Amino acid sequence: MGTLIYNIKELLQIREADISKISGADMQVLPRLKNAFLVIENGLIADFGPMANCPKKSDYKTIDAAGKFVLPTWCDSHTHLVYAANREDEFVDRIKGLSYEEIAQKGGGILNSAQKLAIADEKTLFKNAQQRLNEIISQGTGAVEIKSGYGLNTEAELKMLRIIKRLKQESNIPIKATFLGAHAIPLQYKNNSNAYVDEIINDMLPKIAQENLADYIDVFCETGYFTVAQTDRILKAAKKYNLIPKIHVNQFTSIGGVQVGIANDALSLDHLEILTNADLDSLKSSKTMPVALPGCSFFLSIPYTPARRIIDAGLPLALASDFNPGSTPSGNMNFVVATACIKMNMTPEEAINAATLNGAHAMGLSKQMGSITKGKKANLIITKKISSLNYIPYAFGSNLIDTVFINDNVHRTLMTLI
Ligand code: NIG
Ligand code: FE
Repeated sequence: MGTLIYNIKELLQIREADISKISGADMQVLPRLKNAFLVIENGLIADFGPMANCPKKSDYKTIDAAGKFVLPTWCDSHTHLVYAANREDEFVDRIKGLSYEEIAQKGGGILNSAQKLAIADEKTLFKNAQQRLNEIISQGTGAVEIKSGYGLNTEAELKMLRIIKRLKQESNIPIKATFLGAHAIPLQYKNNSNAYVDEIINDMLPKIAQENLADYIDVFCETGYFTVAQTDRILKAAKKYNLIPKIHVNQFTSIGGVQVGIANDALSLDHLEILTNADLDSLKSSKTMPVALPGCSFFLSIPYTPARRIIDAGLPLALASDFNPGSTPSGNMNFVVATACIKMNMTPEEAINAATLNGAHAMGLSKQMGSITKGKKANLIITKKISSLNYIPYAFGSNLIDTVFINDNVHRTLMTLI
């Protein structure tokens, strides 16, 4: 038994199994098939092709997709969706003129989230995170990376990572966990941040490795947060536990985060709103995936990652949401794709490549996710009836998703308010 989707107006992002990322001018191309069928068996893509070759599957569930597009679900490689409380008061402070950095200096920002997380019980944290996860799946996300980083001490970081582990176990989409103990310097370490780095390295990392709680290591390498030297120490220590870096760099300043990430074989470098020519040259000589987070630029009114410079230099680019309570309180990847087109001059084809296969690559999932390829997971978006591919980012405020398929099940698109 399986499912046959037929009469598909356009089937998007058809790739050979050995293609794991798309770079430079190739990002302009989104391979597709008009008037197509697709067969799902055991939760995997079993077959697809033109309607002329559509098989008869009388015992299969059938879905008529006339007028509708089918594409792989979004692969969101950067989120912080486990958190205790929203920060809408800081949002209003920013409307009134304070900057993100000024709010952080007043003890708001990440430290505010850490205070709330410390007193939140694990059950409620899990339930709220699960609700956010369900919401983004209903918005078309079919694989996601989730970071810790609102704990900032051993006990609370472990608490966050155990919640992410439980989300992995209980959710039906692939989830990757990233340890971000180095997200901000706790107040008690204000004048001795190296001692906090020692705690991360000597106390947190061994415990996290022992319980196998993380796939990746992250550091917020930024002025006022963690220096390049501290980042280097943390990444080298994490390497001993086989944790690969995916780090926050160049959100506000370029201080050498790009170079330290590349020197430590980072899988991805995320943010890059500020990108010098030297940073671009370093990226060109690496295999690291640059990741842009346009939802963050939109919400904080900071520059957008220069996608054109990156892609025109022949590099790949991934798009992710950065879903978190401070800088990006939305995990809606449809908005991310539209904003990349509207504000970063990416074409619809580039943006969809960036939010599917390149997103999968940025979290080590491109073998199973990110394209229409036989044997990959059948996590699919079926759109409503739409006129063209270009309509997807154009109609930025409309919900164009008819159905989200996860494995062989229709994900309920109803949204529950928290
Ligand atoms: O990616 N920049 C660092 N971390 C998050 C924001 C976290 C927060 O404000 O809570 C980001 O934007
Ligand atoms: Fe982030």
